[in-house]
Amino acid sequence: MYRRYTGSVVLLLLLINGAISLSGFGGNKAALRTVHAYVGSTALCILFVHAVLGFKLDMTL
Ligand code: HEM
Repeated sequence: MYRRYTGSVVLLLLLINGAISLSGFGGNKAALRTVHAYVGSTALCILFVHAVLGFKLDMTL
C-alpha cells in the first residue's frame, strides 16, 4: 500500500525538479542548482524504495 505513496512522491519531486530547471534555475542561481541536485537525488533514492516495495508486492500475488 505504501508503494503508491512512494510512486506519487517521486512524480511530485520530478515535477518540482523539472519546474526548477525550466525556470532556468531561478536565473542560474547556484543555490537552486544545488537544490535541484538534492531533490533529484532524493527522488532516485525513493524510486529505489518504490521498486523494492513493488517487487515485494509482486511476490505476494
Ligand atoms: C532523477 C532526477 C534528477 C537528478 C538526479 C538530476 C540531477 C541534476 C544535476 C546534478 C544537475 C547539475 C546541477 C548543477 O549545475 O550543479 C542537473 C542539471 C539539470 N537538470 Fe537535472 N536532475 C534530475 C531531474 C531533472 C528533470 C526532471 C529535469 C527537467 C525536466 C532536469 C533538468 C535539468 C537541466 C535543464 C539541468 C541543467 C543542465 C546544464 O546546466 O547544462 N533534471 N540535474
